[in-house]
Amino acid sequence: MSVLDRQMSATAKIFPHPRDAWYVAAWDHEVTAKAPLARTIADRPLALYRTQDGRPVALADACWHRLAPLSMGTLVGDDEVQCPYHGLRYNSSGRCTAMPAQETVNPSASVPSFPVVEKHRYVWVWVGDPTKADPDLVPDMHQMDSPDWAGDGLTIHADCNYQLVLDNLMDLTHEEFVHSSSIGQAELSEAEFSTTHDGSTVTVSRWMRDIDAPPFWLKNMRDKFPGFTGKVDRWQIIHFEAPSTICIDVGVAKAGTGAPEGDRSQGVNGYVMNTITPDRDRSCHYFWAFMRNYRLDSQLITTQLRDGVHGVFAEDEVMLTAQQKAIDENPDYEFYSLNVDAGGMWVRRILDRMLVAEGRLDPGDVSVTNHAAAPADRPRVTTGA
Ligand code: FES
Ligand SMILES: [Fe+2]
Repeated sequence: MSVLDRQMSATAKIFPHPRDAWYVAAWDHEVTAKAPLARTIADRPLALYRTQDGRPVALADACWHRLAPLSMGTLVGDDEVQCPYHGLRYNSSGRCTAMPAQETVNPSASVPSFPVVEKHRYVWVWVGDPTKADPDLVPDMHQMDSPDWAGDGLTIHADCNYQLVLDNLMDLTHEEFVHSSSIGQAELSEAEFSTTHDGSTVTVSRWMRDIDAPPFWLKNMRDKFPGFTGKVDRWQIIHFEAPSTICIDVGVAKAGTGAPEGDRSQGVNGYVMNTITPDRDRSCHYFWAFMRNYRLDSQLITTQLRDGVHGVFAEDEVMLTAQQKAIDENPDYEFYSLNVDAGGMWVRRILDRMLVAEGRLDPGDVSVTNHAAAPADRPRVTTGA
């Protein structure tokens, strides 16, 4: 199929997601031993709960009998959920242990149970091939529960494909336009940036030297250095880990005090922790947190930062929802890439490779059409599978 044919045959831009991956299903506190939680993770409706000894469990949210949702059921015994319809019970492995209207339990009665890991304040689920579910593959988000960092976050249920959020986070020049009242400034688009990558990670680094701090960062500098005025050196180091975790090292320091060379003592440093879980084709769970390494004991600062970032990300959500709508309403239009999309393009290449390996994407149909092209060559991004 020629490029032109592919362009003409495009009917919808739905970017698929890998299945063989750990995705965050919930914050740890959302999964309890009191009642199951319903959540769709990578197209899989799940019932999430904890056993009485605190172990998280993810079962398919459809009873073996007549497919009633187990998430509407009740938790009983040490580790079981009881179907709300005719009372079948399942243990944490998904095996049926009781059939109230039968003398014996049909030995084949079960529901799928998915691998679960609890790490970095999140419950992660693997909905793909369970033999590949290695807990060591959980992305590094250690700042979430390190004693050197403090902070909190929230979840956005965004009405857009998960890759649109990845694009958003890999190119922060949008801050100048979407977040002009808080973190945006013209220097974002003007500054040089570098992009590095390997088989499963991409890093985009940008330094802006001797600039005015935008309002969000000026406030944070004054939390650490009361009364601060003057210029700052600002950094954004965006780190993607496949398939959908992006941790961004952000901060500002008094200009000329050596932050670019590694001395950040005269600055404030945060990590924007983002992990995006596909829900359905056009929706995703966007888990985020803002962690800082100064004034660790101030709950007030934690709350102010969480609320501040919440406001910033609400601006992204408006844009992402509108973008998804425009994509759906213009199925024959293509994406084009600019220099600033270099990081996002490497992300798509990594995801394409994962999808091809899972047999879910034809190698001739990958979403970035020219893998050898430099971003300046403006390669097109087409529809994917
Ligand atoms: S549908 Fe669950 S017991 Fe009948
Ligand atoms: Fe944004």
